[in-house]
Amino acid sequence: MKNIRKIQILLLLLVLSVLRISGQTVCEIDASRPGAAIQPTMYGIFFEDINFAADGGLYAELVKNRSFEFPQPFVGWTPFGQVTVNTERPCFERNPHYISVTNDGGLLRAGLDNEGFRGIGLKKDHEYRFSAYVRVQGDSPMKLSVELVNAGGENLLKKEMEVKGQEWRKITAVLTSPFTDAHSRLRIVLLTRGTVDMDHISLFPVDTWKNRENGLRTDLAQALYDLNPGVLRFPGGCIVEGNSLATRYQWKNTVGPVENRPLNENRWNYTFKHKAFPDYFQSYGLGFFEYFQLSEDLGAEPLPILSCGLSCQYESNEVVPLDSLQPYIEDALDLIEFANGPVSSTWGKVRADMGHPEPFHLKFIGVGNEQWGEVYPERLEMFVKAIRARYPEVRIVGSSGPSASGKEFDFLWPEMKRIGVDLVDEHYYMNPEWFFDNAHRYDNYDRKGPKVFAGEYASHDHSTKKDNNFLAALSEAAFMTGLERNADVVHMATYAPLFAHVDAWQWNPDLIWYDNLQMVRTPSYYVQQLYGMNAGTHVLPVTMNGEADGMLYASAVWDAKTGEIILKVVNRSDTSRQIPLTVKGLKKRTLSEGTHTYLQADDLKAKNVLGEPERIVPRMRPLTVNGNRLALEVAPQSVNVYRIK
Ligand code: AHR
Repeated sequence: MKNIRKIQILLLLLVLSVLRISGQTVCEIDASRPGAAIQPTMYGIFFEDINFAADGGLYAELVKNRSFEFPQPFVGWTPFGQVTVNTERPCFERNPHYISVTNDGGLLRAGLDNEGFRGIGLKKDHEYRFSAYVRVQGDSPMKLSVELVNAGGENLLKKEMEVKGQEWRKITAVLTSPFTDAHSRLRIVLLTRGTVDMDHISLFPVDTWKNRENGLRTDLAQALYDLNPGVLRFPGGCIVEGNSLATRYQWKNTVGPVENRPLNENRWNYTFKHKAFPDYFQSYGLGFFEYFQLSEDLGAEPLPILSCGLSCQYESNEVVPLDSLQPYIEDALDLIEFANGPVSSTWGKVRADMGHPEPFHLKFIGVGNEQWGEVYPERLEMFVKAIRARYPEVRIVGSSGPSASGKEFDFLWPEMKRIGVDLVDEHYYMNPEWFFDNAHRYDNYDRKGPKVFAGEYASHDHSTKKDNNFLAALSEAAFMTGLERNADVVHMATYAPLFAHVDAWQWNPDLIWYDNLQMVRTPSYYVQQLYGMNAGTHVLPVTMNGEADGMLYASAVWDAKTGEIILKVVNRSDTSRQIPLTVKGLKKRTLSEGTHTYLQADDLKAKNVLGEPERIVPRMRPLTVNGNRLALEVAPQSVNVYRIK
């Protein structure tokens, strides 16, 4: 087998050198030899609540600190008149704080404003669902005014609501915004004398993804859908580990009624001392049920990552002793039951009570994020034994640490093989040159060990302060040809991070940027989309001698579902290439029509921005096909996808 491979490589080198001497770049695909299957999970999404990705981002709630559970309970709120925070006879046991608003008859009356997440984004003529839990302290009904206030301070919409009863009850109203403003506020005023208790004050757009009341921002969810992702990794990232064990991500706190999901600190609120976000907490309104539901909506395999009993090793570096690890292992087993168990099981019932009696068909689970040192495999091994014993069909993802190479990486890969995980998560945030240079990273990976999950990667162009520019996207596209050619060993890849709010980000670059009203897809987004939409089903052998000058990168796949050959070519040079393509091994010996989709920019530093989101977008044109030959026009600095029937 080894000898055959050697002979193949020698023949290829011979052909390439002959072509190099002739100076002509040619490309050849052998359609008679479909190779490894491309896993349906190959191109996916990494979701982490960083950069206000969940609260203030994908999760459509517009009110910050809706439950008054932040350590300073009025963060996000501007109270006026008499407003106090209380906990007696709470509405929600696990979120016990609520406010009491007292109107003593003064002219100011009493109430409070919410500032949202760097403002509340409202669109003219769009509907918003206000809700709150309320009770009055006296016998008489009282009146509230719920108001939408623009950035100039004008309350342009007022809706009166009656409040009565001494027991907690939910009130709701649909408000139609008379204006568009990214920095609006929600105001509540107590009009009548007396005291009203209020909790869980919420404002959602009525128009959410799939029209769910506790739903997702439509434009952002649509952008995810448009990637055609095969896998959704959640909830991170370092957020899985937490700054401390106490603040690690505990999925059980994120399911059940949203009002009763306890608040958690966000791991990214003070990570970067020069860029602190003291108002960054996790409401868990977007919790594990919603992540599973989103995976289902996207047609992506859910891939939850759980704490392995180590808090962030860059931060507090707390370690759960081995003899105290059992609750963490139980969390993993219970999660599989939550996702897949029958409704008669404890956690399957929780899922069913949330409206999803059908299982979520969880197939993968990750244990630990980017851990390192001996403490990690020691703990991982205990999880693997327990999961294999109860759920042998579930595939387990382990980690190779925070870097693409080096001491920790070299220690962990053999450990992952020894423990026998199914996939190993690799992380690399490197410069564009690294991505170009590493297009062959996986060519010589061990084919017998665990498969690769490129679980976090992005090209960081430090010369532009890590902008999401075209150079970054181009280098990622070049690198991804190598993922694809090696699809027998690379089973998943997810760019990271996914989302960033332009006014509240901690980490860049990111795939999708947004403010409170609009979003922008980066060139890197379009690269992910080009691969996700053109993943194919089997690798095809492709040779292109232009690779020899280090400027061209190529991969080819066969799509058994559509009967198409898909060729991806990345040209990093600043000159165009005319490349004759021959497809050999065709049964009918002719190709019919095709399309050429390409992403191109003359300026490597160019990027898409809010207001000008379409500077760099994919364009499509028909392909002229002649028998089994095509003349490929490859523009300078371009990513090209050719689909040929
Ligand atoms: O993607 C941002 C962070 O990078 C992730 O949380 C972490 O896993 C990595 O260090």
